[in-house]
Amino acid sequence: MSLPPGFLDELRTRTSLTQVVGRKVTWDQRKSNQAKGDMWSPCPFHEEKTASFHVDDRKGFYYCFGCHAKGDALGFIRETENVSFMEAVEILARENGMPMPARDPQAQKKADRNAQLAEVMEMAVQFYRLQLQTGAAGNARDYLLRRGLDEAAQARFDIGFAPEQRQILFSHLTGKNVAPDLIIEAGLAAKPDDGGAPYDRFRGRILFPIRDARGRAIGLGGRAMDQNARAKYLNSPETPLFDKGRSLYNHGPAREAAGKGAPLIVAEGYMDVIALVEAGFGAAVAPLGTAVTENQLALMWRISPEPIIALDGDKAGIRAAMRLIDIAFPLIEAGKSLRFCIMPEGQDPDDVIKAQGAGAMQALLDQAEPMVNLLWRRETDGKNFDSPERRAALDKSLRDALMLIKDPSIQRHYGEAVKNLRWELFDPRQGKTPQKREWTPGGKGKWNKAPTKPLASTKTSLLASAGAGVEDQLREAVILAALICHPSIIPEFEADMDTLHMSPEHAGIRDALLRLPTDTDTESAREIIAQEHRSALDKLFALNHVQIAPPVRNTENHSQAAKCVAEELAKLTSIRGAELEISEAAEDLQGIADEGLTWRLGQAAEARNAASRSQDDDSGVMNEDQAALSSKLQDFLDSEIWVKKKR
Ligand code: UTP
Ligand code: MN
Repeated sequence: MSLPPGFLDELRTRTSLTQVVGRKVTWDQRKSNQAKGDMWSPCPFHEEKTASFHVDDRKGFYYCFGCHAKGDALGFIRETENVSFMEAVEILARENGMPMPARDPQAQKKADRNAQLAEVMEMAVQFYRLQLQTGAAGNARDYLLRRGLDEAAQARFDIGFAPEQRQILFSHLTGKNVAPDLIIEAGLAAKPDDGGAPYDRFRGRILFPIRDARGRAIGLGGRAMDQNARAKYLNSPETPLFDKGRSLYNHGPAREAAGKGAPLIVAEGYMDVIALVEAGFGAAVAPLGTAVTENQLALMWRISPEPIIALDGDKAGIRAAMRLIDIAFPLIEAGKSLRFCIMPEGQDPDDVIKAQGAGAMQALLDQAEPMVNLLWRRETDGKNFDSPERRAALDKSLRDALMLIKDPSIQRHYGEAVKNLRWELFDPRQGKTPQKREWTPGGKGKWNKAPTKPLASTKTSLLASAGAGVEDQLREAVILAALICHPSIIPEFEADMDTLHMSPEHAGIRDALLRLPTDTDTESAREIIAQEHRSALDKLFALNHVQIAPPVRNTENHSQAAKCVAEELAKLTSIRGAELEISEAAEDLQGIADEGLTWRLGQAAEARNAASRSQDDDSGVMNEDQAALSSKLQDFLDSEIWVKKKR
């Protein structure tokens, strides 16, 4: 429908946004300035206790500094009343005493038709409610009670019962002068192919009415009483009212509960939502028998910035979560994310609550994992990364997934999180997963023999262009920085640090570090060391390698820092050990002209260089080159000529 020119402008000038919004929020009187039309309140679109929702009455715009919701009066009505643009115009016009221009007859007809359908749906819901009280529904009532749904709960969710009869609803509604085609269009009855009388869609089922955010009945979900029924749940078909991908079970009440601070929980089924609500988790919703859609995510994010997806702990549930990640990634931004709460294997929220109570459910919710963990699981669970090719494949799949994230800042943070996870996975000192190994100098056959090629970017870096020793210094720098950032782990490495040969510049810092009083925090550690070694310290922290080192970026994760230090120490000592071996071997063999041997020595030296060079665009992977070095050295040491010479 088109509005006459100037109608909307007139409507906007007549409207006070403060008044419109004021019906839904409580103004923060201290922060607001009524005279200036400068109003603040807690945001009605996301859960919060502070007032970050701002209304500029003069401009007629609102903006939330927390969830970034923004718009004008019409937008506000659309969002809060869940109505179409035209409906919002109508509401606002009525309030401001502006008569609506005559409607487009086509649109009017459609709106009228939908209103009629909704009315028929409501009649059906009430009819089925009554059926649940009849003698024919004895089994259904017993079943509901067995599942913990007392009469109050049944009433709260308008639960009904469709008896095992072909036409009971159809006759009831036509008896009330409802046109048969309306009943069919509402999805309540179906016409048989043979042209016979329409029959009820729901028979012998317990019924869960589905309502839109405004509370209009738009569909039904029906659970079979008969164990052998073809489908355990039968839902209304898509109708002009019922768009499954744009609806959520328990939407309205959940939105209200979330507004009061309840966490938004997304479960899989009707019974889960009901069990959650009855257990005190009022903001529970479920999709309607289909996978969660983009539109449903949008609805959820309007309710809460971080819905918790409660997954059945079975394979199908996990798979569904994985698919959801792909749907969600392009859409996430600040204030729009998801968490995943994984139920014990084979249980759904309903089962957990029934078996262990609301406390157990709460405990699971408290452990809900961020999306990045799920992504990591998806890409790594059950897989083995014992070759550079496999690691590269992992990197590619992770990169592909992260590329789906459109928000650059979120993408960057994900990149960092993933990098940390890689670090842990590939850390050779962890030994938890099958692909993890201890660094064993000279251990033969375990490692891939071909040295990995240094990345192109690494070749052009400082390392490649600088002389030998720089790389060792960078490792020293990373170790020192890690210890300064995590003074609590110093005692663990005291002995190693004491004996470690360090460049003069670093040795001073190391010594100061080892003299630090116990329980020094990071800040004070830096200060104390800077007193004597300021310029060396500044230089140290200015190094790119230091800045990107996980222990420097994350000063909370001490165990990660300890792993990093341990690994860097191991590398320094093993590389230095290797150097020593090579030079000794070369000395021993001096004078023996053997081209093959010279070549092998050359290879060993080159591998050692590769180990230094490819150090670190790629901070998680650090072992391939060392591996190659190790195996080459071993080849060399095993070679006949060497054995002979040793004897
Ligand atoms: P579940 O099979 O997990 O059912 O399906 P449930 O919710 O645990 O049901 P109870 O506890 O056995 O009663 C989860 C959701 O998937 C849809 C329904 O929306 C259901 O709530 N579904 C399931 C169907 O649409 N059709 C089916 O045949 C089964
Ligand atoms: Mn269940």
